[in-house]
Amino acid sequence: MAYRSHLDDYLEKILDLKRSLSIPVIGSLNGISMSGWLEHARDLEKAGCDALELNIYYVAADLSQPAQEIEARYVEILRQVGAQVSLPIAVKLGPHFSSLGHMIGQLREAGATGISLFNRFYHPDIDLLDMRVKPRIHLSSSDESMERIRWLGLLHGQVDVDLAATGGFHRATDVIKAVLAGADVVGLCSVLLKKGERALGDILSDIKLWMEDNEYESVAQMKGSVCQHHAINPVAYEHANYLAVLESYTTGEND
Ligand SMILES: Cc1cc2nc3c(=O)[nH]c(=O)nc-3n(C[C@H](O)[C@H](O)[C@H](O)COP(=O)(O)O)c2cc1C
Repeated sequence: MAYRSHLDDYLEKILDLKRSLSIPVIGSLNGISMSGWLEHARDLEKAGCDALELNIYYVAADLSQPAQEIEARYVEILRQVGAQVSLPIAVKLGPHFSSLGHMIGQLREAGATGISLFNRFYHPDIDLLDMRVKPRIHLSSSDESMERIRWLGLLHGQVDVDLAATGGFHRATDVIKAVLAGADVVGLCSVLLKKGERALGDILSDIKLWMEDNEYESVAQMKGSVCQHHAINPVAYEHANYLAVLESYTTGEND
C-alpha cells in the first residue's frame, strides 16, 4: 500500500488553492534535516507556491551550543534553500535573538526578502494528574501583538526586507497599530480559528472605518508613520523608560 504523508496532503492543498485563488499562495516550510528542507522546498515550488516562508522552529535545548552556531544554521538553511528554488523567501523568526536586527541583516545578505515576526513557540505543560509533560497548543491573545509592534517600529526603515507581523493580531486596532509601526503584511491565524473567516471581513471593514475617521487615504500612507524614527516619543519603543512604565501602573486601570 502506498504511504501517504502529511506533506502529500499539504502539496495537494496548495494545488487546489492555486486552482481556485487569484491571490498569491505562500508555502510554509518547517524542516528538521537539511535534506528535508531542500527536498520539500523544491516540492512546494513545483506545486505552484508564489513564495516560501521558512519556519525555523528551533529551541536551543543543547546548553553547550553557542549562539553563533545557531545563527549560522539559520543562515545556512536559507542559503541552501535559496540555491534550490527561484522563489522569494521569507524567514519566520522567534523573538529570542540577542541582536535581532543583526540577525535580520545576516538573513538579508543570504537572500531573504521578507521576515515574519514572530514565531509562537508552543509550550509544554505538566499534567498534575499523571505527572507527565504534554505538548499543549493554546491560541494567542491580542496582548502578544505588542512585542511584534515594538520590533516593527524599531526595524521599519532600517532593514531592507519586507516585514510581516504574526502573533496576536485579533482586532482591527491590532492590525492598524502593526501597519503604523511599519508592517508590510499582517498574518492572522488564532482569530480565524476562533471566529471563522468572517473575522477577516469584520477586521477589514473596521480598518476602512478607522482610516476614514482618521483621514488616511491609503495603507501606504499609514505604513511606518509611527515607527521609531517618526514617533513623537521614540524612546518608548526601547525600554529606556522602564521605571516610568512601572510607575504608570494604577491598580485596576491597566487592562
Ligand atoms: C493550529 C495551528 C497550526 C499552525 N500551523 C502552522 C504551520 O504549519 N506553519 C507555520 O509556519 N505556522 C503555523 N502556525 C502558526 C501561525 O501561522 C501563526 O504564526 C501563529 O499562530 C501566530 O499567529 P496568531 O496569533 O494569529 O495565531 C499554526 C498555528 C496554529 C494555532
